[in-house]
Amino acid sequence: MLPSGSLAVVSGVIGTRKSDRQTALAAGGKVEERDRLSLILGLETSCDETSAAVVADGRAILSNIISSQIDFHQKFGGVVPEIASRKHIENVIPVVHQALEEAGIRLEEVDAIAVTYGPGLVGALLVGVAAAKAMAFAAGKKLLAVNHLEGHIFANFLAHKTLEPPFIALVVSGGHTSLVFIEDYNRLNLLGQTRDDAAGEAFDKIARVMGLPYPGGPQIDRLAQDGNPQAIKFPRALVGNNYEFSFSGLKSAVLNYLNSARQQGQTVNHADVAASFQVAVVDSLVSKTLQAVSDYGMKKVVVAGGVAANSLLRSTLTKSCANRGLSLFYPPQELCTDNAAMIACRAHYQYITGNFADLRLNAVPSLALTYENIGQ
Ligand code: KG4
Ligand code: ZN
Repeated sequence: MLPSGSLAVVSGVIGTRKSDRQTALAAGGKVEERDRLSLILGLETSCDETSAAVVADGRAILSNIISSQIDFHQKFGGVVPEIASRKHIENVIPVVHQALEEAGIRLEEVDAIAVTYGPGLVGALLVGVAAAKAMAFAAGKKLLAVNHLEGHIFANFLAHKTLEPPFIALVVSGGHTSLVFIEDYNRLNLLGQTRDDAAGEAFDKIARVMGLPYPGGPQIDRLAQDGNPQAIKFPRALVGNNYEFSFSGLKSAVLNYLNSARQQGQTVNHADVAASFQVAVVDSLVSKTLQAVSDYGMKKVVVAGGVAANSLLRSTLTKSCANRGLSLFYPPQELCTDNAAMIACRAHYQYITGNFADLRLNAVPSLALTYENIGQ
């Protein structure tokens, strides 16, 4: 049973318990016969956010504490790995304490401890992995190793209580751009990904050249509101019948445009550049996503990762999905960017199938997203 002190907080969980159990059973999960399926403490330290969360039954957030390091990295124009690791070391235990306190539970009361073990910055990942292993050992808890990108996709299950697989997911973060066929909670198939830069990375690099602060995505998004997306014709890469992306050509085209304007002493309309660049990124993201949805006969589209917060991506997908009778899901802003609740959510579906890690767990900085690669 849930600890009595937290019953009020998690009353919403009780309503979802049955359907979660049925889903788990349908997915072939080994579910023990008891009231609550899981109460998981999640940890996320893969990049520049130190986060800890407590999630019940994979769907109800009891707490989700996020300590962002953005201020420390901003003056360098990007994340400095060494600073990230040091800040995680300072923050990880206070953030865990706060997450447990806000959830109204003690460490002994959680069923398992979940941690992001990749992909990400190795030094940053290691802080979370070491902390999770130490806590699991000290408190005698099960350990769950979570793929960060899967966490981003699963953030949607926290936001949309009735969402269930199958669906196509577009993962657009600072480090990754991938199309994934989520056949079931534990069957994720990578269809295609970027061959070079990730979408978020392209946003960040262009913003940097335009003198905007890190992270550049939200800045470009804001600036583009005042620009004309048709002003400059930037290239759309890899049009055609595949699920792959490429943003380095587009990035070079924008950089060339800015440099040659500067050399010729012309004033550049930054809002037009931002709008024209943004629409080029969004065009390729949306067309490839719709292609995958149609090829796999899906009715649901899920967007995940930091760039899922982009307003043009959201409005374009909203229109396109409505025209085709598709349902579109994306997380609210606070669950789009890195957070531990999404890690604990993903971990729940590993927990119910007994997919545990042990104390030999190590960080895997280039961890791939998929279990099966049916796209190749
Ligand atoms: O998923 P995330 O928090 O971190 C990674 O796992 O990489 O994504 C961060 C990325 C950054 O590149 C940031 O510029 C981008 O998401 N981003 C955006 C927006 N908000 C965040 N990109 C475009 N438009 C936005 N509104
Ligand atoms: Zn992320």
